Amino acid sequence: METALLPKVQLRELTPNDAEDRFIWSLDKEVTKHLNMPDKYPPFSRDETQKWIEMCIAKSNGYEQKAIMTEDGVHIGWVDLKNIDRLNRHAELGIAIGDKRYWGKGYGLSAMKQMLIWGFKELELNKIWLRVESDNQKAIKSYKKIGYIEEGILREDRLRNGEFVDRLRMSILKSEFFSK
Ligand SMILES: CC(C)(COP(=O)(O)OP(=O)(O)OC[C@H]1O[C@@H](n2cnc3c(N)ncnc32)[C@H](O)[C@@H]1OP(=O)(O)O)[C@@H](O)C(=O)NCCC(=O)NCCS
Repeated sequence: METALLPKVQLRELTPNDAEDRFIWSLDKEVTKHLNMPDKYPPFSRDETQKWIEMCIAKSNGYEQKAIMTEDGVHIGWVDLKNIDRLNRHAELGIAIGDKRYWGKGYGLSAMKQMLIWGFKELELNKIWLRVESDNQKAIKSYKKIGYIEEGILREDRLRNGEFVDRLRMSILKSEFFSK
């Protein structure tokens, strides 16, 4: 992947103050449409969001979640690794740019690239996989750009607005990522 021109982002640890942005982003149905969230509006209350952030900070939910910051210090989203299988050295990636003004500018790619480097180097993973709804073309395009390969279709894997939708399972290996 050509990354020389990607906008710079910083991944930092979450803080309790991140909860408000996260709650605001959760009110935007375009942002949450393809995220694994409950079918109600808003998907989480302010209080639930605060508790979730605190769980992430305490790492009591198995997530390694980081806040995505622009070079100018704007908080624009989050990226995480979960289902971390240390025995087999793989984990599942999730990402969202919650502030839509930053969509389609390379921020998602930049954040994902940093998380992949961190996961492969610091967590010593061999494979980083993900699940993406098969109609989330925007995300699939980004994943392919970074080098993710389709592993298969998870049939009717998500119940979204009362309808079961397929998800693709995609992955990238450490050797593939660092050979680019
Ligand atoms: C999916 C998501 C993370 C992608 O992030 P993004 O920042 O919007 O997208 P990317 O980083 O891939 O940006 C690439 C796009 O920016 C454009 N771009 C503009 N400037 C760029 C630059 N300097 N470098 C790279 N790409 C640039 C590319 O041409 C590309 O546009 P295209 O898709 O029209 O070809 C984001 O849209 C999102 O959070 N969506 C909602 C939540 C979601 O669906 N999450 C995934 C669940 S599986």
